[in-house]
Amino acid sequence: SAVSKPQGKRVLLAEPRGYCAGVDRAVETVERALEKHGAPVYVRKEIVHNRHVVETLSERGAVFVEEVDEVPEGALVVFSAHGVSPAVHEAAGTRELRTIDATCPLVTKVHQEAKRFARDDFDILLIGHEGHEEVEGTAGEAPSHVQLVDGPDSVDKVEVRDESRVVWLSQTTLSVDETMETVERLRKRFPGLQDPPSDDICYATQNRQVAVKAMAPECDLVIVVGSRNSSNSLRLVEVALDAGARTSYLVDYAKEINPAWLEGVETVGVTSGASVPEILVDGVLQFLSGEGFGTVQTVTTANETLVFALPRELRPSRRP
Ligand code: F3S
Repeated sequence: SAVSKPQGKRVLLAEPRGYCAGVDRAVETVERALEKHGAPVYVRKEIVHNRHVVETLSERGAVFVEEVDEVPEGALVVFSAHGVSPAVHEAAGTRELRTIDATCPLVTKVHQEAKRFARDDFDILLIGHEGHEEVEGTAGEAPSHVQLVDGPDSVDKVEVRDESRVVWLSQTTLSVDETMETVERLRKRFPGLQDPPSDDICYATQNRQVAVKAMAPECDLVIVVGSRNSSNSLRLVEVALDAGARTSYLVDYAKEINPAWLEGVETVGVTSGASVPEILVDGVLQFLSGEGFGTVQTVTTANETLVFALPRELRPSRRP
């Protein structure tokens, strides 16, 4: 292992952690839209599932709404990183809204797969969390072909029309291991089940889980920085516990850490979800340092270099 033997109190810091390319692009999209068009810029749903990001952008003039019918006619609205169904695009068109789509390109990829398999008249088993915005957007591409499968225990109630034309797709931010369990159970029922053309669980979700798995067995406590509605952050807590961390908690801010969690603890693991700005992790490290955990060792399992271009509307215009 890359991690040396414990010598008193220390922090293991997972790498990669925090912002993925899709979140970085979505947050910058709102910032640039505010610079270019001025406030208010409406945003349908939380641009990314992080409390600090939403509060900071609100202070700068972003107005978060649940649905486009709350946006004044003709105004500018940004669609969040989680994606939207075609019905939302239509509703925005009807209100003559100007739209900028900050959907992560890796979510758009799953939308394309759903459209393609629906066109070929497959039953699409979409593995994901009931009620999550991403799942609503993806399912909305082909409502008559998509069934949601919310984890291994939902497999038994799935019904298909033709067992030779069934494919599974998934939300991008699931636990890799749990999803494989769901797929195994689906395949037992439908041996002809097709796999997606490429991984739907995105690189960032996978990399953050691999890093947590590497450090968790050595940790008495794993602190995951992230918001309660952030799917990929919640998964990191589960992965840490599955991989052998004694305890694990999700916090939005350092001030939510209960000092009692640190009693008798030698090694604290720290990581953060894909929607979490690094400043919040810095706050946690500072707090831990004040509690005697000043030694920080990084546990690196991958290097990420992916960057997505901004939406077309915000790229510098080329003059003739
Ligand atoms: Fe995209 Fe994955 Fe981030 S789908 S928004 S790169 S968590």
